[in-house]
Amino acid sequence: MDIRLDGRVALITGATGGIGAAITTEFFKSGATVIINGRTQEKIDALTDKLLTGGDKKDAARIGGIAMDLTALDSETNMIQRVIEKFNKLDILVNNAAQIDGRVIMRCDPDYVSRLMLINYRKPYQLTRNALAYMRKNRYGRIINITSVSGQCGDGGVSAYASSKAALHAFAQSISVEYGRYNITANSIAPGIVDTEALKAMSDEYKQNAKKLIPNNRFAKPSEIADLATFLASERAAYINGQQIAINGGLYR
Ligand SMILES: NC(=O)c1ccc[n+]([C@@H]2O[C@H](COP(=O)([O-])OP(=O)(O)OC[C@H]3O[C@@H](n4cnc5c(N)ncnc54)[C@H](OP(=O)(O)O)[C@@H]3O)[C@@H](O)[C@H]2O)c1
Repeated sequence: MDIRLDGRVALITGATGGIGAAITTEFFKSGATVIINGRTQEKIDALTDKLLTGGDKKDAARIGGIAMDLTALDSETNMIQRVIEKFNKLDILVNNAAQIDGRVIMRCDPDYVSRLMLINYRKPYQLTRNALAYMRKNRYGRIINITSVSGQCGDGGVSAYASSKAALHAFAQSISVEYGRYNITANSIAPGIVDTEALKAMSDEYKQNAKKLIPNNRFAKPSEIADLATFLASERAAYINGQQIAINGGLYR
């Protein structure tokens, strides 16, 4: 099956991280225009260079960058405005940036929970809301949330993070009901444990114990999440709507 995204404009938040960069790369290879969001301009430039390595110079026109912290005032409006000003439309939004950390419940004070929910839920909600207005005009839209197995099952030590991911998927389900008729779909991808920088920081003991729980006996590669995201972003996935697709090597609790 040939999956193409030619002519599509995609904004990927947290595109400079492990999963975000893999999704951006796969979208770009599939013909999409990609807008790389992250907090650091240097990382955006590095990913841009990587995408263009060995390719056609005119492909540079298919890459945009927005160095912006999602927590910044009005980021949800400014980001969408910049995409529309430069590319005139937005077809695909990947809500991937997140605060990825954990605390036991008694250490989750209100400030911690507020900030985590701001990055992982409230800002993606408003960013998506702004994007939907343009998608509706064009009668095409793909909202893809990167959630987590912890949002499906809950887990010890990550209650706030897990709750933020569950909330984000409930939002996708609600979008599917309100916007399905406009050829707009909203789905979530719930990875298990993916081999990114976040995992590199974990102890060998954690990694060994975690692997024992995974029937496939390995962590996911970022490219495996990107393959699914590319399919969901395409015309081919038009009838998949409001779903949360687990990609976790069989990791059940
Ligand atoms: N890795 C896993 O095992 C795993 C499992 C399940 C779900 N996930 C989910 O997958 C997504 C990506 O995770 P990852 O492992 O690829 O993480 P990562 O490598 O740490 O990358 C995180 C990305 O998010 C960006 N970011 C963080 N806070 C931001 C903010 N306030 N504003 C704008 N950008 C921000 C970072 O930007 P900078 O580069 O500028 O720092 C970076 O591009 C997250 O939603 C995470 O919850 C990951």
